[in-house]
Amino acid sequence: MTTSLERPSPVHLKAVEAENQPAVSPALEDLYRGFERELLIPLWTEIGDLMPPHPRSKALPYRWRWDSLRALAARAGELVPVGRGGERRAIALANPGLNGRPFATPTLWAAIQYLLPGENAPEHRHTQHAFRFVLEGEGVWTVVGGDPVAMRRGDFLPQAGWNWHAHHNASKAPMAWIDGLDIPLQYLTEAQFFEAGRDEVSEAEHATPDRSRSERLWGHPGLVPVAKTARPDTPGSPLLAYRWEQTDRALADQLALEREGHGGTVEPGHAAVRCTDPATGRDVLPTIRVEFHRVARNAETRPVRETGSSVFAVFDGAGRVTVGDKTWSVGRGDLFVVPSWQPFSAKSEAGATDSDSGALDLFRFSDAPVFEALRLHRTMTEGTP
Ligand SMILES: [Fe+2]
Repeated sequence: MTTSLERPSPVHLKAVEAENQPAVSPALEDLYRGFERELLIPLWTEIGDLMPPHPRSKALPYRWRWDSLRALAARAGELVPVGRGGERRAIALANPGLNGRPFATPTLWAAIQYLLPGENAPEHRHTQHAFRFVLEGEGVWTVVGGDPVAMRRGDFLPQAGWNWHAHHNASKAPMAWIDGLDIPLQYLTEAQFFEAGRDEVSEAEHATPDRSRSERLWGHPGLVPVAKTARPDTPGSPLLAYRWEQTDRALADQLALEREGHGGTVEPGHAAVRCTDPATGRDVLPTIRVEFHRVARNAETRPVRETGSSVFAVFDGAGRVTVGDKTWSVGRGDLFVVPSWQPFSAKSEAGATDSDSGALDLFRFSDAPVFEALRLHRTMTEGTP
């Protein structure tokens, strides 16, 4: 079928005998050829796909093993230089339901980034909102907007879009961390920009202070600078590092309070905290929500469905997670995805854990802020009305 564009029509319609479909006839076939020629598609053949009764994600539940990721990243470290052009030695999770694209979910990118001792990842900026979450090692620092920020295991480092950033490994060992970005979402928006910066950051930026300037300004609980000028012009949190010591204490305190008979946990044995912008209390990034969950030894979370998608990393401990009809054993460093509206639950497995806390510690990031802004966010905990 040729259109007025003088190329074959990408529209292909098939008349089928089915309930709620018009009777198949030569006249109907003729109508459908007319639709193909004029690049038209009737709703009655598409409604089940376009307007389903509940979310049907194309993404599939899937788990990646840290040992495999880590080994392949190390091999990439031997074979693939890091530098201008490729920009980062980052290897993305490709959800098996998303046509071989480097997308963990329809909206989220998740990658392992690997940097050898002495290596520099060159400076650049992009509209995509990003973060780093450190699964192992220390000694890398990232320079965001001229502020060197140290990275250590368990630290979460957000970096809102259009901020200049570069990384350097000042240690004697390779370092691996998780990169999370909203690349698939921004790909859909067709509003992305990217710019290369300096190939080398300055000597002054090679300093590795224990606390970044952002932490000295914004890292005091319940206290924010009065000066309006203190807040950088950025669409995300001005605090550039959320340190594991504080996260760990917050989770431990919730479970301790529960044992003392007080509220504050999500459910028995399930503590959780969300990383927020200290000035606004909103999510750290406009498109990404970040949470830490601690499931106490032998505790199990109730299955929850949520619109939008999540990527989890097992920070510590061991357990069993169920996503939709899949159940996996997971251990330190493993990553898995929870597609939209698939029920998710996690169980901490006593005895098999190597956790400092004796619990299953999960790092989670999701696209919830986008769904909340669009008024499309919905959750349902199984077993509740
Ligand atoms: Fe980047």
